[in-house]
Amino acid sequence: MNPPDYEYLRKLLRDQSGLDLSTDKQYLIESRLLPLARKAGLPGISDLVQKMKAGSNALVTQVVEAMTTNETFFFRDKVPFEHFRDTIMPEMLKARAARKSLRIWCAAGSTGQEPYSLAMCLKEMSASLAGWRVDILATDLSQEVLEKSKAGIYSQFEVQRGLPIQMLVKYFKQIGELWQINPDIRAMVAHRQLNLRHDLGEAGSFDVIFCRNVLIYFDQETKTQVLDRVARVTESDGYLVLGAAETVVGLTDSFKPLPDHRGLYVPNLQRKDRVALEALPRLRLAATGATR
Ligand SMILES: C[S@@+](CC[C@H](N)C(=O)[O-])C[C@H]1O[C@@H](n2cnc3c(N)ncnc32)[C@H](O)[C@@H]1O
Repeated sequence: MNPPDYEYLRKLLRDQSGLDLSTDKQYLIESRLLPLARKAGLPGISDLVQKMKAGSNALVTQVVEAMTTNETFFFRDKVPFEHFRDTIMPEMLKARAARKSLRIWCAAGSTGQEPYSLAMCLKEMSASLAGWRVDILATDLSQEVLEKSKAGIYSQFEVQRGLPIQMLVKYFKQIGELWQINPDIRAMVAHRQLNLRHDLGEAGSFDVIFCRNVLIYFDQETKTQVLDRVARVTESDGYLVLGAAETVVGLTDSFKPLPDHRGLYVPNLQRKDRVALEALPRLRLAATGATR
């Protein structure tokens, strides 16, 4: 790939999705974009770049999506889901006892394994949640992964990664060689396309936010911007869960780590410019353009 094309793609990806590619990732671009070029009937990356420069927005979207890494699996890293069950939910059950409602946001939910792992955790706690309304919003930049998430259909390989066999039996139905998560679990998760680079719009505020394994792809400045944006929609007694290789430390003081709970963060109420979230309208998911 010639250097100007590489620079064009690096800048485009940084602007569009926040993806921060170092100067030596030509092989990654080639392995992801050559198949896309061929599919579009173009001989190579240069032709792809020319077509994008000529104003093909559809191609830009495809390029950005092709460059996202969608790796995920059920109950990934285990510990965050233990925090959810043993720390976050007991606190939330007390804190929201009067309201009996809870809003959870999976900010880069990919193909659905993460939001559905949370939905299954909640299903396991049904007895304590009788009479509650719990909404899970799964968002992602990529429309393609959101479509797969909505369908909730997984291969044998995918259900063998991280999902306890008892949960597979309890919450999935086998369709030939595939497995589909049951409609009642699917109905717990709403989907919406959302680019973390942009303003979060009218999503309202959330009690629990899982934003895992996406900040790692961004540069420092974008990480800080995204975390500050996320802080503005986190309830003052809410929680943020990041991935194992991610932290807020050195990036923002909007959140602070919860001692002895790796990956778990709470809003820093000392921060002077923290918005009064209590004043935010409590919007229903239906009003956010989310779709099941
Ligand atoms: C590695 S997956 C992580 C999935 C899941 N959170 C987990 O930890 O298993 C990263 C996801 O972030 C999404 N993503 C990348 N850039 C994004 C952006 N700017 N806004 C929203 N989602 C983005 C990708 O499409 C991908 O599905």
